Amino acid sequence: MTTVAAPAHGPLAINGGTPVSRTPVPFMLPGLQEADIEAVNKVLRSGMLRAASKCAELETRMAELSHARHAMTCANGTCALQLAYEPLFERGDDILVPCWSYIATASMLVARGCRPIFVDADETTGQIDVADAARRITPRTRGIAATHMYGCPVDIDGVQALARSHNLKVVYDAAQAHLALYKGKGIGQFGDAVTYSFYATKNLATGEGGMVTCNDDALATKIKLLRSHGETDKYLHESVGYNYRMNDMAGAIGCSRLDRLQRETDARRAAARRYDAMLAGIRGLAPLAATAGAVSAYHLYTVKLDLATVRCTRDEFIKALGAEGVPTAVHYPRSLNNQPAFKAFLAGQKPWPVAEKLATQVFSLPMHHGLTDEHFATVEQALRKVTAAMGR
Ligand SMILES: Cc1ncc(COP(=O)(O)O)c(C=O)c1O
Repeated sequence: MTTVAAPAHGPLAINGGTPVSRTPVPFMLPGLQEADIEAVNKVLRSGMLRAASKCAELETRMAELSHARHAMTCANGTCALQLAYEPLFERGDDILVPCWSYIATASMLVARGCRPIFVDADETTGQIDVADAARRITPRTRGIAATHMYGCPVDIDGVQALARSHNLKVVYDAAQAHLALYKGKGIGQFGDAVTYSFYATKNLATGEGGMVTCNDDALATKIKLLRSHGETDKYLHESVGYNYRMNDMAGAIGCSRLDRLQRETDARRAAARRYDAMLAGIRGLAPLAATAGAVSAYHLYTVKLDLATVRCTRDEFIKALGAEGVPTAVHYPRSLNNQPAFKAFLAGQKPWPVAEKLATQVFSLPMHHGLTDEHFATVEQALRKVTAAMGR
């Protein structure tokens, strides 16, 4: 049984005090159910392990749910980015990409032979700053690869307007944003292509897996060819491609979990509303705001710590929270311009002050569909206790 301490704050658990809860709040849920296991067993019994009817079903259903015309499963979210980038961008192109994202959004541009032009983040949302993107455009700019960070759509209208006025191709990285909405529409409607990850911790998790969606028939054909060695007939290869296919065991898990995804996403949204209300009463902490017109999928619920209000670093703050029974994670500890992998691409690029500041401030609270009243009480008491102890 979890013990939740009385609101009067004693010494911090990191200093030998009693933790708010001896049972840590789960940061995320594996969330697999018997139905998922049975779905995989059915595939195993059939002997059809390659991409077949379950991958096809996942494609049809995800296309419908995200309002896209075509959906193509693939091996993972990184492959999905490669499958989208290769037909849309050329070697040597400059492509705008958020400096505040997971590495793959930018590293797969490098794999394509493009130069990543890093764009700073918007301070209130943590999403790509479209005005900053506009300032970085040159005659060599050919595209934008924008990430719907934490599950929240970026300012899609802003990105699309910029793309229209400079004739740029747009890929949206929705690895964290299954079922997110923008102005009431599925995010599959926007841009040239949208990519997803079904990695083990994602909102729709198949272990490893990914998807590209698009609305252009010719592009969908190119992506399908690239995904499977350019094969147009048995052992006839019209073009060079890869083996980036998913398999039907992952497809079966995806379909089975998709039955619950809307419900689970609604629960994430309800949890986010509770955190919003909780944080409104706690000095020095504020959530990253949602983009105007966007409904987030809340893959993560990410908070900014105002370092001027505390006598500690973000890392010391979250260590204290962890000791009280509230595990957190940092997404991300570095902006992409500070990743050694991109050192060679930074010459001549203007600085990224907002992203660099976010890297010192942000942390993510437990977020999943299984959070209980008791979990919320623990998080609130721990946040109040640590902010009171660390406050200036
Ligand atoms: C924003 C973003 N892009 C791309 C990826 C890559 O996806 P995968 O791990 O399936 O290759 C991830 C996964 O962590 C991600 O969060």
